[in-house]
Amino acid sequence: MDGNGRWARARGRSRVMGHRAGARAAQRTVQAAREARVRILTLYAFSSDNWARPPREVAGLMRLFRVYLFAETGRCVENGIRLSVIGRRDRLPSALIGAIESAEAATAGGRMMDLRIALDYSARDAIMQTAAETAGKDLSREEFDVQMAKAIHSPTTGEVDLLIRTGGEQRLSDFLLWESAYAELVFSPCMWPDFGAPELASALKEFHSRERRFGGVPEAVAS
Ligand code: FPP
Repeated sequence: MDGNGRWARARGRSRVMGHRAGARAAQRTVQAAREARVRILTLYAFSSDNWARPPREVAGLMRLFRVYLFAETGRCVENGIRLSVIGRRDRLPSALIGAIESAEAATAGGRMMDLRIALDYSARDAIMQTAAETAGKDLSREEFDVQMAKAIHSPTTGEVDLLIRTGGEQRLSDFLLWESAYAELVFSPCMWPDFGAPELASALKEFHSRERRFGGVPEAVAS
């Protein structure tokens, strides 16, 4: 969800205002993904490296996440969406941890879509933690997936099919590195606060136009 800062600067507003507009874009996109029958949507809201941002911006983001979770819970319940937060919890403010636990409990019965919000998330840390916890065990990839999902508090496992990055950046920035082994990447010039249903539809169209071979040849995949 890149581009909040630049979107705000172009309007003479603060970065926190850009993040607020970003939260509205997240609401629109969740709705659009639900209507497009996306099964799992993961939003990268705060990376473990984002703690390096100015304290004022970090505090504004932590407040915004709490407000977002309260606001989103009702909509998720109405739409059959199970909301969960992936990443580390021990460095988050206690009020935010409470909001996460309430949102997860209230939406636990959702069966139509999984909405995962990544907060204090680092894919490299998740891989290292899981590798350390499973050292010496002869695990399959699927079993490793399950252990990693536990490490990041994710109720779901599985591969990323489509990874969309906005704001013109073309990097992965420590996001779902293990799960994205065969992800299709779509880089959009759109600043995140301007993202919504049309931009999601365009990324999905691009995704469906791609031929996915998973290291095989087209005929093998087709059969
Ligand atoms: C990166 O853009 C964005 C973030 C670090 C924060 C993302 C947070 C939100 C969209 C708000 C809340 C959303 C949810 C789902 C709870 P940037 O600030 O680095 O922008 P820039 O690349 O223009 O500087």
